[in-house]
Amino acid sequence: MALIELIFTLVGACVVLFCCARLAHVLMKLYPRVWYPLPENFFTSMGKWAVITGASDGIGKAYAQELARHGLNVVIISRTKEKLDRLARDIEVKTGVKVITIVTDFTKEDIYGVIKENIQGLDVAILVNNVGKLPTFIPCRLLEIDHLEEKMYQVINCNVKTTVKMCRIILPGMVERGRGIILTVSSGIAKIPCPIYTLYAATKVFLERFSQGLQAEYRSDGILFQTVSPFGVSTAMTGYQKTDFFTFTAEEFVRNSLMYLKAGEQTYGSIVHAVLGWVIQAIPTWVLRSEAFHHNFQEFVKKKMDS
Ligand SMILES: NC(=O)c1ccc[n+]([C@@H]2O[C@H](COP(=O)([O-])OP(=O)(O)OC[C@H]3O[C@@H](n4cnc5c(N)ncnc54)[C@H](OP(=O)(O)O)[C@@H]3O)[C@@H](O)[C@H]2O)c1
Repeated sequence: MALIELIFTLVGACVVLFCCARLAHVLMKLYPRVWYPLPENFFTSMGKWAVITGASDGIGKAYAQELARHGLNVVIISRTKEKLDRLARDIEVKTGVKVITIVTDFTKEDIYGVIKENIQGLDVAILVNNVGKLPTFIPCRLLEIDHLEEKMYQVINCNVKTTVKMCRIILPGMVERGRGIILTVSSGIAKIPCPIYTLYAATKVFLERFSQGLQAEYRSDGILFQTVSPFGVSTAMTGYQKTDFFTFTAEEFVRNSLMYLKAGEQTYGSIVHAVLGWVIQAIPTWVLRSEAFHHNFQEFVKKKMDS
């Protein structure tokens, strides 16, 4: 009897300890400035340049503006020259830092020679692997995607290959200098098997594992890797859905998520999205697999996109 009592007491104590640790973890995330403080010169102490893919709009543009505000020169890369030039002028006028623009399409092959040439020799403090593409605006089952063959190729090139190639170009210099940050924008939906977003979510899972692996390999070389996994951010990709308690502007999201740079190799970038992530991970798999869930999820996204 005494032994059973002891076992129950021990199990109870473990559960209480686990809950306390979890609560402490949540409380720490509520006050990132206190628990993960960054010195004023943190970014400039890592180098002189930030390189951002998919930088002319949305989250990438917000990263470019915010990192320039922290004193870094920026290399901004995306497809539309006019948008890049406009942003470059705006950043130069507002912050006085230097801006290099590179026009390229990350869905294409043979683009990395030009990127490498433009970046060669720069003291890169931070690479933001931001560019990402959905195969369809409204999510659907894989075989319902129009021009599936072409979309598969584009999504994998843009979301996966770009990050691998950009790390290949920039990481050696960081290792040589013994400092640097590589941020990779994933997505909250990478945290669960995500039907109707299958291809997109799977590319984001690749990015998370890739970044985690590199963190383990290059931690001792002074390189910090982190994936940032937002849910709703009001951008072109999400049809500029209305901002609310769960949906941020790109600027709010980036400013907030940078406060979590020292919070570990994976972050949701905000406490609100972290809680959403925990709730979503608690959904039983049989619910995620059900037809009713797919249908309701699709309707929910349509409504959000229309809002
Ligand atoms: N918004 C969200 O709610 C959300 C949630 C989770 C994760 N994310 C992730 O966050 C990242 C940024 O998304 P966002 O919402 O900011 O998207 P966005 O507003 O659509 O911006 C995408 C940026 O990438 C550029 N771009 C798009 N396709 C490109 C290509 N093939 N080659 C070169 N540049 C390209 C676009 O400029 P051009 O059109 O001029 O090329 C633009 O600057 C993505 O990785 C996305 O998966 C977003």
